[in-house]
Amino acid sequence: MDYQKILDTIESEMSYRDVRGKVAAYIPELAKVDPKKFGMHVYCGDQQHFCFGDSEENFSVQSIAKVFSLSMAMILMGEDLWDRVDVEPSGDPFNSLTQLEYEQGVPRNPFINAGALVISDILVDQLENPKEELLSFVRKITDDESIDFDKAVAASEKATGYRNIALVNYMKALGNIKCDVEPIVDFYFHLCSLSMSCKSLAKAFMLYANKGVILETGEQVLSATTVKRINALMQTCGFYDEAGEFSFEVGLPGKSGVGGGIVAIHPHPDRYSVAVWSPILNEKGNSELGMKALEKFTSLTGISVF
Ligand code: DON
Repeated sequence: MDYQKILDTIESEMSYRDVRGKVAAYIPELAKVDPKKFGMHVYCGDQQHFCFGDSEENFSVQSIAKVFSLSMAMILMGEDLWDRVDVEPSGDPFNSLTQLEYEQGVPRNPFINAGALVISDILVDQLENPKEELLSFVRKITDDESIDFDKAVAASEKATGYRNIALVNYMKALGNIKCDVEPIVDFYFHLCSLSMSCKSLAKAFMLYANKGVILETGEQVLSATTVKRINALMQTCGFYDEAGEFSFEVGLPGKSGVGGGIVAIHPHPDRYSVAVWSPILNEKGNSELGMKALEKFTSLTGISVF
């Protein structure tokens, strides 16, 4: 498969000029990002890398990082985790509060904000220094010690994060939050502010394409069952109320963030991970050009899970 030729085709045929959405502005710091940015990176099971454009520039990964926090919570809690958070698509926007009332404070899945905040509560409760441990996890699976939080993005989200603070308070009232609200949202805002590139995301997500084993070292970080469950959740819930559309168009498990990043994987045996970044979002909060580029990618490679 000539992945570089396929990426070159995508780069030459697609542009930010073809999409009509807007860069996320509800977190003021994200509104400063150049809407013209466009990059893509593919990492294959034989350790070959292919890329174009702004693939090595760091951006705010936002909700993509929820895959890392979920992984850590599964290591800590195993199957008991599912008493606190469900595994069903929500069909609602990522920041919705409505289902929580009639579902007694148990979020539909770990990728909507409510679910990621319950996961944050678990990590804050069980880890001595959850922010440092999160960084250690991500640095280990990428072999990149430079990965860090973007403090300006975390502060910007904290200053405007009324819905997330409301979600934690509401779930605490309904008995599904143990810790104080402040450390939970502090962890969550830092999680979302993780700054990574398409290259480092593709490297990190090879773990989920490779049954929980770090490709370069052979170390088993997550069990095969954990990875099966996380990939299933990415497939069914990774794009919120656009999860069906992403499965239909792209046909891979993946995760998006309002920073404009999307990462998707193809599990064994055709192992690859692919990350794309274009900050212009569609009305569902997913990268408009990123989704189109991934649709083209799986159409041209002919490799999707379906
Ligand atoms: O909680 C928020 O609103 C953001 N930190 C994350 C949202 C996000 O990335 C949703 N994804 N597409």
